Amino acid sequence: MRIILFGAPGSGKGTQAQALAEYYKIKRICVGDILRQEVNKGSSFGKMVKSYMEKGLLVPDELILDLIKKNIDNKDFILDGYPRNLSQAAQLEKLFSEKNIDTYVFVYLYVDRETIINRLSKRLICQDCGANYHLINMPPKKDKICDICKGNLIQRKDDTPKVIRKRWEVFLKESKPLLDFYKKKDKFIKIDAKAKKDIVFSRIIKLLDKCD
Ligand code: AP5
Ligand code: MG
Repeated sequence: MRIILFGAPGSGKGTQAQALAEYYKIKRICVGDILRQEVNKGSSFGKMVKSYMEKGLLVPDELILDLIKKNIDNKDFILDGYPRNLSQAAQLEKLFSEKNIDTYVFVYLYVDRETIINRLSKRLICQDCGANYHLINMPPKKDKICDICKGNLIQRKDDTPKVIRKRWEVFLKESKPLLDFYKKKDKFIKIDAKAKKDIVFSRIIKLLDKCD
């Protein structure tokens, strides 16, 4: 199973990618998490991408393509956060053809703007393992401590009202052409992702199992 997971900021890509990767026992490639790790390490790559992320802008395509090339092989995977625009989609198609990858499912998580703002303004992430929480919807068992690795839970730097607004604008601008591109492909799934985590997960696997 190869899955491309797409959706607005806060639509639940990370949450569902984690659950799907466990369920199908496939590798999860989360571009945002990889970028944040590089920023936290202070690597030269991290220094190049930091200011884009802090402003809620897309990192240049060439930088992201290098990262994707390093992470994709012939094994099954779930891609969280790539591609985000038409040119990335074209680059990914080319990469797939070089690697003889001919089947995948594109999953679009649809959520309205109000839900997104509510989710992002109350999100916490683990600064060590990147696991996702929500103060109301998915709270940790112990206040501000990660259930999985006991790391500290923090707010993401790009989860401020100003940067959330910018990320949403970028999504609105880029999403229509990208969705039009993937709708023409065989395996396009649109999921109403406003429901609870487990319900959204069941909806996704029900449709994915039909595609297999
Ligand atoms: P990225 O980290 O991918 O951020 P994003 O796309 O803005 O999406 P989020 O991670 O904020 O949301 P999500 O959809 O994963 O939702 P989550 O599951 O966390 O990218 C960050 C930045 O990196 C970009 O802005 C850009 O600068 C750069 N970048 C990344 N990819 C790039 C690319 N391809 N090209 C160029 N630049 C790139 O859920 C959100 C919250 O809601 C959580 O609190 C969660 O607990 C909660 N929640 C989730 N599901 C539910 C549910 N069903 N019910 C209730 N609450 C829920
Ligand atoms: Mg995410």
